[in-house]
Amino acid sequence: MSRREWNRTAEQFDELVCDIASEETNNQLRRFVSAAHPSPKESVLVDLGCGTGTFVQKFGKHFRKIFAADFATAVVRKAERTYKGPTPASWQVADVKDCPKLFGDRIADLAVCLNVITSPSAARRKSLWASVKAVTKPSGHMLVVVPSSESCEMVNAWENRARKKPKPAFRKGSIAERGDIWQKHFSRSELVATITDLGFSVVRLGAVSYPWSSEGLRKPRSATKAPWDWICLAKRVA
Ligand SMILES: C[S@@+](CC[C@H](N)C(=O)[O-])C[C@H]1O[C@@H](n2cnc3c(N)ncnc32)[C@H](O)[C@@H]1O
Repeated sequence: MSRREWNRTAEQFDELVCDIASEETNNQLRRFVSAAHPSPKESVLVDLGCGTGTFVQKFGKHFRKIFAADFATAVVRKAERTYKGPTPASWQVADVKDCPKLFGDRIADLAVCLNVITSPSAARRKSLWASVKAVTKPSGHMLVVVPSSESCEMVNAWENRARKKPKPAFRKGSIAERGDIWQKHFSRSELVATITDLGFSVVRLGAVSYPWSSEGLRKPRSATKAPWDWICLAKRVA
């Protein structure tokens, strides 16, 4: 989705966009942030593609300083306007790829990038992964959330039950339509490989669940699990 399209979502961001920090139903973000052991006296948080700032609002108090950026001006302005946390925060309108230059290399004890590295373009994703790495201190952590291929297949299987002609879950390369946007989805093993190749070691990886309504569906009676994204906390080792 383009910067202009993201801007248009600003006023209805919560209704239109999967804001995992407010939608999650299994309290995973809290567990994963705790596992990074942030210090309110020392730690620096960088949120890349911060949206309307829900993550910063919820977890910013565990940090000494916050840098947050999003390339959609109206979205960042809303984040800045509504932020009420005690920790000083710098809100910037910027593309993630430009953030290492803007904020500085290796400044983050925790670099967060939640549902942002979803472009169908592999080259574009590569540049975003590289930026997340560049802002992270050696031995610092990154926390990423990405759409899950396995969840997408599960949701598609339920949808296919109501279709005359079943539809495949993906087009080539695990790209699927999610909320009217074509997005890259990651299998668990692809995410582990991507993060390891980047020079991080996985500390914790799990499923962050969200409601069926976010997929435009009522919970099927016999469904045993809710849809989910992958959430991963990883430590920079290279
Ligand atoms: C699905 S929303 C997630 C927002 C936030 N991270 C959250 O979890 O609520 C994706 C956000 O990433 C931003 N975004 C996407 N690509 C970006 C890029 N290359 N640089 C900066 N922001 C980007 C969009 O403007 C949007 O606010």
